[in-house]
Amino acid sequence: MILHLAGVSLKKDGNWILKNIDWDINKGENWTLLGLNGAGKTAMLHMLCSYYFPTTGEVEVVDRKFGRDILGEQLRQQIGIVSSSLKQRMYGTDSAYQVVLSGAFASIGLYETPTDAMREKAQQILKDLDCFSYANRAYRTLSQGEQQRVLIGRALMNDPKLLILDEPTNGLDFIAREQLLTSIEQISSGESAPSIIYVTHHVEEILPTFNKTLLLKDGEVFQQGATNKMIQSEVLSAFFEIPVEVDWSEERPRLKKK
Ligand SMILES: Nc1ncnc2c1ncn2[C@@H]1O[C@H](COP(=O)(O)OP(=O)(O)OP(=O)(O)O)[C@@H](O)[C@H]1O
Ligand SMILES: [Mg+2]
Repeated sequence: MILHLAGVSLKKDGNWILKNIDWDINKGENWTLLGLNGAGKTAMLHMLCSYYFPTTGEVEVVDRKFGRDILGEQLRQQIGIVSSSLKQRMYGTDSAYQVVLSGAFASIGLYETPTDAMREKAQQILKDLDCFSYANRAYRTLSQGEQQRVLIGRALMNDPKLLILDEPTNGLDFIAREQLLTSIEQISSGESAPSIIYVTHHVEEILPTFNKTLLLKDGEVFQQGATNKMIQSEVLSAFFEIPVEVDWSEERPRLKKK
């Protein structure tokens, strides 16, 4: 079991942001979390990383039950996350290599001396993700697409059981987007691949490897299940409340307004 949420709700500033969420992720599953702006996707991810504590319900992440006694730090070592808030918090003068290495300590910046094994691993990850040519460049000089790759590399340093990608293609042109998606597909096909939660509002980004989909609407689960059942014209027209048509070709969906 990678993730188990039962009856989870989250209240912030007097508003219910997440309402009665039941969600299980088993090993081998990769999920798309699809929802419009303000649906509660990022709040959900913050909760999974134990930055937010659920107001009601039960949360278990990578076999650890949330309780006041669980240290967020320990939990976060088992989860890799890439998000826009994390992207902005990196130190611009650190090299791409240093940013990836810092993932070993789940820290922003490097404060401890990495072992030789960590250094080798960071280099291998940079090679696998095609980042090696700019490994020594300052993070702030990298393009958005390059920064995203480096952050994914950082998230992989601890061999996480769960990799969370919150809109990783934001700001990328369509070529960089497809290249990043190809890398994500490769990560998911590795031998000890993590389960992935891929958060997006773009149906077009749903890769064949994302075999499950959760549709989140106004803080509630609208529907969840097999991706090919969720990403259908009828379901999504009801979800978006406008008539839309889904075209599936080469295992990738495309959305059109009717
Ligand atoms: N700490 C907070 N305090 C109060 N309200 C919050 C807090 N965090 C999120 N919200 C509100 O909860 C709702 C869901 O926000 P969230 O950021 O999770 O949406 P999202 O699905 O990630 O949207 P987007 O696609 O735009 O990133 C929004 O209305 C937001 O204003
Ligand atoms: Mg968000």
